[in-house]
Amino acid sequence: MNTRVLSNGTEIPVLGLGVWQVDDGVETEQSVTWALETGYRLIDTAQAYGNEVSVGKAIRESGIPREEIFLTTKFYPGGKDARVEAEKSLERLGTEYLDLYLIHWPQGGPTWAWPGMEAAVEAGLTKGIGISNFSATELQELGKIAQIQPAVNQIQFSPFEYRKALVEACEEANVVAQAYSPLGTGRHLGDPVVARIAEATGKTPAQVLIRWAIQKGLSVIPKSTHQNRIVENFDVFDFELDDAAVADLDGLDKTHGTADALSQSGKWWS
Ligand code: A2P
Repeated sequence: MNTRVLSNGTEIPVLGLGVWQVDDGVETEQSVTWALETGYRLIDTAQAYGNEVSVGKAIRESGIPREEIFLTTKFYPGGKDARVEAEKSLERLGTEYLDLYLIHWPQGGPTWAWPGMEAAVEAGLTKGIGISNFSATELQELGKIAQIQPAVNQIQFSPFEYRKALVEACEEANVVAQAYSPLGTGRHLGDPVVARIAEATGKTPAQVLIRWAIQKGLSVIPKSTHQNRIVENFDVFDFELDDAAVADLDGLDKTHGTADALSQSGKWWS
């Protein structure tokens, strides 16, 4: 599996399964099981998703050694202490450690939760820590107070939400950007430009969008609850988008290359 090296020295796969909006229980267990069978080694959950128990169960029952899987969960900023909440996540996941623990969104400001995140590293609860939905400005503010710098910023990212300046700010800060909703939660799959490139490359619209994000240097976490789609979304390492296709996809951007991290639904946490 292709990986990116994080600032803490661990390697994050460039492709993983996201389980946002996947129901706890059978749906999550099946999706994670299919993904692991397919070859995915990165699973991305969150306290807010309410499905950590099922993610953990599927990982344990896969029989794949824990150390071969990169497991991410996220601190729900409504909680008080990120370290204490990490312990609770580990209990739900039924595992000894996280590979990555992210602040889910910068509610209450970009810095207040960070000492608790650092304490989670020091207590051995997680190997790496990072952030999600942080703008370039919030990333810089955090950088000033951090003893341990964030390893990842997970952001909404697709050709239509091409936050070029934010990705560049992450690169400058040695933070790996990670793309959630790379398919625009499914909305971008019917776009005519994406469809044309898919046809020309002999791949599907989902594969084109995932490949574009990988070629931009991001780690990407498409979500699906269907086995055939989970398999399809993983089959993106046998082709490359050429410069013309990348330029056409870049041209779909509706964010004007912003350094902001707002989701399409706005700053839903404030
Ligand atoms: P489902 O979970 O029913 O398979 P994103 O990763 O951008 O959030 O997009 C996830 C959405 O896209 C989900 O609604 C998912 O539906 C759908 N989806 C994921 N992969 C594919 C695919 N390969 N083809 C069509 N739809 C997909």
